[in-house]
Amino acid sequence: MNKPEILVIDDEVEVGTFFQYYLEEEKNYPVAVANSGREARELLGSRSFDLALVDLKLPDTDGISLLREIKENNPGCEVIIMTGYSTIKSAVEAMKLGAFDYIDKPFDELEELDELLDRALQSVKNKHRYINEELDRLTSEFGIVMAENSPMKDLLILCKKVATRKISVLIEGETGTGKEVLARFIHANSPRAGHPFIGVNCGALTETLLESELFGHEKGAFTGAQGMRPGIFEVAHHGTLFLDEIGEATPSIQVKLLRVLETGEFFRVGGSRPIKTDVRVLAATNTSLREAVKDKLFREDLLYRLDVVCLCIPPLRQRPMDIMPLAGYFIEKNLPEGEKHLKVAFSPEAVEILQKYDWPGNVRELSNVVARAMAFREGETMGPECLPRYLAAGRGSFPDRGPGTPPEMEEAVRDWARRLTEAVLSRKNIDLDAFSRALKREVDGMIRGIIDHTLEKTGFSQAGAAKLLNISPRTLRYLRNERGK
Ligand SMILES: Nc1ncnc2c1ncn2[C@@H]1O[C@H](COP(=O)(O)OP(=O)(O)OP(=O)(O)O)[C@@H](O)[C@H]1O
Ligand SMILES: [Mg+2]
Repeated sequence: MNKPEILVIDDEVEVGTFFQYYLEEEKNYPVAVANSGREARELLGSRSFDLALVDLKLPDTDGISLLREIKENNPGCEVIIMTGYSTIKSAVEAMKLGAFDYIDKPFDELEELDELLDRALQSVKNKHRYINEELDRLTSEFGIVMAENSPMKDLLILCKKVATRKISVLIEGETGTGKEVLARFIHANSPRAGHPFIGVNCGALTETLLESELFGHEKGAFTGAQGMRPGIFEVAHHGTLFLDEIGEATPSIQVKLLRVLETGEFFRVGGSRPIKTDVRVLAATNTSLREAVKDKLFREDLLYRLDVVCLCIPPLRQRPMDIMPLAGYFIEKNLPEGEKHLKVAFSPEAVEILQKYDWPGNVRELSNVVARAMAFREGETMGPECLPRYLAAGRGSFPDRGPGTPPEMEEAVRDWARRLTEAVLSRKNIDLDAFSRALKREVDGMIRGIIDHTLEKTGFSQAGAAKLLNISPRTLRYLRNERGK
């Protein structure tokens, strides 16, 4: 922790002046002063404090309400209540609500005040140390990185709570936000940790393949099924099954999933004997399943089965405090063994670009950008020249434009139209078949280019690219396979 930040809230101007003199001049701690509840709330909303000295009586509010607000929004901050009319009742109430201690005004004994401040600041330091140790442990054990004040912290606390119980959890989040990371974290913190964690991507396989992957098949169930093969519901017995991109499951798979979740039993493809299974299901989606239910694309009863607890991971642009800690982690990860002693970092200009960009591909995109910058780096400092150019363009760069046509494509289409018009006008004998074949080749090439570019940006996540292009993963697969030929 750097120097602790202290806030003094008191309507008596002299009290503020006293602390400013005493703590800033004598002890060298930065102090902010608020003379009313309104001023205090403004300051508390704009930055975070480590210690607050709060007067019990204020003109526009009271110290107890402020204490409550501080503990709710900034639990790491210690609060000392100051009171001129000390009554045991309000002091006890304050302590119950989490105040560190209380002190009577005026401060007759400077020693007493000193001792109290030292104790409170020591407690703040211990909390910071504890939080940092926890963060280090998350990184070393689970590869999870976040800032001290990241909203991810509350999410992980919730994950730990739900981990111990066999309830279904739905993880929602844009592409690359860390849905799988969170699912593995839940599994690792659950009593099932010693059993398998198996993930299956419902959007990556055809319906038949997915069905046989999930439930297995009997010998001869279909052409090519030469032997019996157990499905994931069997293999993951006692463990955790991670159903990724659950929104892509077809209606027939949805019915089968619902049945196994309700009864704990399923049939192998081509089988007639029910098989019992005990798996904990975690599902992930980067589209809104509620919307899909409204559009009749997803079964409501299955949604309720899966969504006992819903964890929503905020996109990286909504937690900018995580960007630089994550970048630091990826730098470390990308340094070759012999170079771990180097102090590789981004220059202030590069940091500004990284912080302003809106990261449509989230943590995965950041990880790719850092890896690329490391490849381009010359010394220990990586400047803007190591970053892809589209980053500096900031918000609204290509992937965020959704389904719009990129300018180069518009240009090419216009060119083709011009050539066709010219041919018609000059009454040339044109071979329309050849013309349309050539046009198709060019359009396919352009579509491939756009898809490749988008895939690169999402770290080759098909689901992520499909989302950015505003098409379904199925369409994306079709375009890659069919049009790419
Ligand atoms: N908090 C984090 N700390 C460190 N690495 C992270 C964090 N969150 C995500 N990552 C990394 O970012 C990448 C993407 O994470 P993950 O695969 O879990 O995302 P996702 O939400 O499942 O994405 P998609 O929707 O595309 O499947 C992974 O390499 C993962 O290790
Ligand atoms: Mg994923």
